[in-house]
Amino acid sequence: MSEKIKISIIVGTRPNLIKVSPLVRKIKEDESIDMQFINTGQHYDYELDEIFIKELNIPKPVFLNVGSGTQGKQTGEALIKIEKELIEFKPDVSVVIGDTNSTLAGALASTKLHIPVAHIEAGLRSFDRKMPEEINRIVVDHISDILFVPTENAVKNLKNEGIGDEKIFFVHDISVDACLQNYEIAKKSEILKKMNINNNFVLVTLHRQENVDNKENLCNILDALLEISKGKGVVFPIHPRTLKNLKAFGIFEKYSENLRFIKPLGYFDFLKLIGSSSCIVTDSGGVQKEALILKTPCVTARTTTEWTETTDMNANVLVGTDKEKIIEEVSRRSSKEFHEFMEKTENPYGDGKTSERILRNIKNMALLKKYR
Ligand code: UD1
Ligand code: UDP
Repeated sequence: MSEKIKISIIVGTRPNLIKVSPLVRKIKEDESIDMQFINTGQHYDYELDEIFIKELNIPKPVFLNVGSGTQGKQTGEALIKIEKELIEFKPDVSVVIGDTNSTLAGALASTKLHIPVAHIEAGLRSFDRKMPEEINRIVVDHISDILFVPTENAVKNLKNEGIGDEKIFFVHDISVDACLQNYEIAKKSEILKKMNINNNFVLVTLHRQENVDNKENLCNILDALLEISKGKGVVFPIHPRTLKNLKAFGIFEKYSENLRFIKPLGYFDFLKLIGSSSCIVTDSGGVQKEALILKTPCVTARTTTEWTETTDMNANVLVGTDKEKIIEEVSRRSSKEFHEFMEKTENPYGDGKTSERILRNIKNMALLKKYR
């Protein structure tokens, strides 16, 4: 039997890579661990994948080339390919993160091979079962053995679903580690100069299927942004799903004259833009939190959020796809007074040491499994 602890880390998308990076770097430095790092390839464009491996200084994962497809095809292919890797490596524990189809496939493949599963970012709920992410979260939480939970609300959600205390570890949120560690580097980014912009701009990201696969919803949000662009710049690093739909709906040209569509950015440039913008419009989970951490007001084009602390504190507001509300909230939140309010907010998501707490617990779990 190998003396080292064997840990498989399974990711597949941009946010998975970003969030897992502080943990992966720590594991790499730990000589008692043999790590298998698997990337399903759910995201495969350079701007959604490799750029983060380079910037975040993490080892190149085994790339499974799963690619895009329907929910079933993508999850199924990832399941088959992950299973093969796990059978070869025989880890003592698998680690999955977040709520993507790759997270679900990784957890399912592992548990069926009787490999204990650790789920990072467990317990979040939007209570909207139309979202594929909500289904993924519920299933992964219920088949995992150790749940690393980011917030007290998430602890409550798990307890309400009957999950035992012994599985729940309240460690705060690992994305704070990633954000704080990288913002120091991001501050030096030249992106503002390169784009020739000052701070008077709104930063936008949109990719949720309920917003961007539906022409009416997408146009409502973009019409609001067009209106906003009369007074300030609108910078929109555009997710490939959204770009594809803008073209398919035949509306790319209508908006591209006044909204500044650019390719998705690397993490450093993107964090610099979050920290410099006057307001953010997004439907991203991660961006809502990063906005709060970097004290930038946020307007969220959704009707629910898993990150309810951001809205409870009024650092963030849910506006759905309501054009007038988007315009009104962006205007209100871009004001000097609102920025002064944001300066006084405190980040409720942790101290940036979540990855240390997670690693300690994963090692204990792996040792238990190994010498059981
Ligand atoms: C996925 C996650 C979502 C997460 C998001 C992060 C699920 C169900 N969804 O959504 O939770 O917030 O990633 O960005 O797991 N595409 C490309 N190049 C790529 C990747 C995708 O062109 O590298 C295009 C394809 O047309 C694809 C579409 O984007 O069909 C959607 O990609 P997919 O991974 O299925 O979902 P996301 O919207 O990225
Ligand atoms: N992000 C980035 N470049 C971009 C847009 C987003 O680096 O052009 C980062 C962002 O800072 C956050 C993560 O990607 O850490 C969020 O990913 P996404 O919005 O795709 O997924 P979600 O968080 O909604 O699951």
